[in-house]
Amino acid sequence: MELTGKKIVLGLTGGVACYKAAELCRALTKAGATVQVVMTDAATHFITAVTMQALSGQRVYSSQWDPRVDNNMAHIDVTRDADAMLIAPCSADFMAKLAHGVCDDLLSTMCLARPHAMPLLVAPAMNVEMWQNPATQRNAQQLRDDGITLFGPAAGEQACGEVGLGRMLEPQQLLEELIASFQPKVLAGKRILITAGPTFEAIDPVRGITNLSSGKMGYAVARAAREAGAEVILVSGPTALATPHGVQRINVQSAQQMHDAVMESVGGQHVFIAVAAVADWRVANASDQKMKKAADGSVPELKFLENPDILAKVAARTSVAGYPYCVGFAAESENLLAFGAAKREKKGIPLLVGNIGHHTFGQDDNTIILFDENGHTILPRADKLTLARQLISEISKRIAAHSLFQ
Ligand code: CTP
Repeated sequence: MELTGKKIVLGLTGGVACYKAAELCRALTKAGATVQVVMTDAATHFITAVTMQALSGQRVYSSQWDPRVDNNMAHIDVTRDADAMLIAPCSADFMAKLAHGVCDDLLSTMCLARPHAMPLLVAPAMNVEMWQNPATQRNAQQLRDDGITLFGPAAGEQACGEVGLGRMLEPQQLLEELIASFQPKVLAGKRILITAGPTFEAIDPVRGITNLSSGKMGYAVARAAREAGAEVILVSGPTALATPHGVQRINVQSAQQMHDAVMESVGGQHVFIAVAAVADWRVANASDQKMKKAADGSVPELKFLENPDILAKVAARTSVAGYPYCVGFAAESENLLAFGAAKREKKGIPLLVGNIGHHTFGQDDNTIILFDENGHTILPRADKLTLARQLISEISKRIAAHSLFQ
C-alpha cells in the first residue's frame, strides 16, 4: 500500500478524460490513500459527483457556496491536511486559470489557497491543437516555473478523432507518477542504464534456451531510478512486464543483442546496473530452418560459444574513463558470501548485489546482500520495489562522493 496515510485532493475539471478519473480514484484508494474529490461545474457534466463519492468514500465538493460546509471555508480547510493535490483531468482553461492565479470557483480557489509547500500536480487533457496553442504552451511553462508538476500529456488517438499530444496519462501511469513524487530525488540529473530479464538463445527459428528470470528486479530498479529523478534506459530481454512509466525501454532477445544495445547506449551514462540473467553461452550451430526429427531417431548435437560478458566489458571502459559506476547482480545457489565477494573482484566493479538463493526468480520478495570494498551489508527481506529503492539510495550515496559524477 504505497499511499497509506496520504491524503490526496483529486481535482476534476471539464473534459472527456473525466471517465478515467473514476479509475484513477479507485487506484488511489486501493493504494491506501484517502481521496478528497473536488469537481468544477464543467467536470460534473462529464461524470457525476455520485460516482466519485462512491469510489472515494468521501463527500465530493463542487461548489464554493456549499451549505454543508459549516464555516464556508472548504477552499482552505480541505487542503490543510493534504499531502498533494492532483488535478486530473486538467483542461486548457484550468491551466490558464492556474497560470494567472484566477480563482473564480472552488477548485481554482483551493489551488491558489493551498499551503505553499504542498505539491500541486496536474495531468493536462485536451485536443492536440489546444495543447499546441502558444497560449497553452506559455501557460504550461508558467506552471513549471511556479513549481507545479505536469504529468504528461501523452500522444495518441483523441476522443475528438484527431491524433497527437494532449491525451491524459492512463490512471496507472498517474498513480506511478504520484507515488514517484513522494520519493527523494537522489539521482536528479543522472543517466542510468539498466539490463533486465533473461536472454533467449535461439536453437532454430522456433526453439531456444532461456532461464527463469522474470525481469521483476530489473524493472523495479528501473522504476526506482526514475522515481529518484534519473533518466533511465532499460535494455530488456523477453519479459511479460509493463515498462515503468517514463523509462525508455529497448527490447532485445539474445545476449549478443543485449551486449550491442548496451554498448550503443553506454556513452555518457553515469551508472550501469546489470540486473539481467544473461546466458553464458549461445548455440554455435543454430539452424536457420526449423530442425526436424531424424527418421533414425538420432538427436541433434548442440555446440556452444561463450557470450560476451557485458558487465565486465562496461567495467573495463570504466577503468579508463572513470564512469559509469558499475553495479552487478549475482544469483548463487550456494556459498553466496564467498562467491559474491569473489565475483565483485573478478568483474572489476565497485558494487555487487547478491540474491540470497536462486529461488528469487519470479518472486515478488527478496533478500539481498551488497558487496563493496568494505565488506558486505544485508538488506532484509522485502518486496523488490522496496529493495530497489534502498539500492538506488545506496548507489546515490556512493556516487555522491565522486566528483566525476557531479
Ligand atoms: N553478466 C553480463 N554478461 C554476461 C554474464 C553476466 O553482463 N554475459 C552480468 C549479469 O547481468 C550480472 C553479473 O554479470 O550482473 C553476474 O552474472 P552471473 O551470471 O551471476 O555471473 P557470471 O559472470 O555469468 O558467472 P557464473 O555464471 O560463472 O557464476
